[in-house]
Amino acid sequence: MPHKQRAPFLRRLAKAIRHPSLGWGYLRRTLRNRRLGTNAARTDHIAFYRRVMADDVAHKTARGAVGTPDPEAWLELGERQFRYLVEHGLEPDHRMLEIGCGNLRAGWRFIEYLGVAAYTGVDISPEILIAAQETLAERGVQAKRPYLLLVDDMSFAALPDAHFDVVHAHSVFSHSPVEVVEAALAGVRRVVKADGFFDLTYNESGDGSYFGVIREDYFYPKPMLLDLAARHGFSAEPMTDWVHPQAKLRLRPL
Ligand SMILES: C[S@@+](CC[C@H](N)C(=O)[O-])C[C@H]1O[C@@H](n2cnc3c(N)ncnc32)[C@H](O)[C@@H]1O
Repeated sequence: MPHKQRAPFLRRLAKAIRHPSLGWGYLRRTLRNRRLGTNAARTDHIAFYRRVMADDVAHKTARGAVGTPDPEAWLELGERQFRYLVEHGLEPDHRMLEIGCGNLRAGWRFIEYLGVAAYTGVDISPEILIAAQETLAERGVQAKRPYLLLVDDMSFAALPDAHFDVVHAHSVFSHSPVEVVEAALAGVRRVVKADGFFDLTYNESGDGSYFGVIREDYFYPKPMLLDLAARHGFSAEPMTDWVHPQAKLRLRPL
């Protein structure tokens, strides 16, 4: 089923204004994104979003760039992700891949909990991966020797087949259009173990349509993600006890 990429401008604007997490700040970001979305970044979403992250890190802090400028909120959301995953199957002897690890808001806790070299974090932003290294030092978890990889696409080509027990992506697909999500599903299907799982969060679209707002936020109807998961060889379970503005799905290889 082909997925429509863009609603008409006025409809998208109306949705943006109506949605509680959106608002007039979007007008400023719209202008900023017009400036950033030039050349290759006009069509390549990852190139575009890398510029968004560079601009956010430069004009805010790394904590602000991942959405929690307040240090307490940064700690709280990381702790919430960590606690949920430990209560839902993450074991200390697991190998874990975090897609869009950011500045390790949750990642430093996973690193602390897991064994040496058991955590791999990938991100598209060099600036945020520098900030991630600062978090490693601040939290004193260097001896765990995590792998932090800068990626340009979702193939995870540098990572081995069937290697990870757990794959985690929090607040990444909420910023990703469908072609990026599909590429990530294909990439994860290759690197996750047959008995592993992949937890992802997404913005649930209230009206059943898929749409993006100023190329930064994407909204998905749940049936569309379930269909994509099945087409990439996963079963999908909505994690209804996860509490956050974004919904969470757990995918398992079929
Ligand atoms: C909102 S932040 C969340 C970071 C982290 N998951 C957390 O919860 O703290 C989104 C992160 O995903 C990264 N990102 C966005 N699209 C990505 C993609 N397609 N692949 C990998 N990282 C991506 C961004 O650079 C950013 O660091």
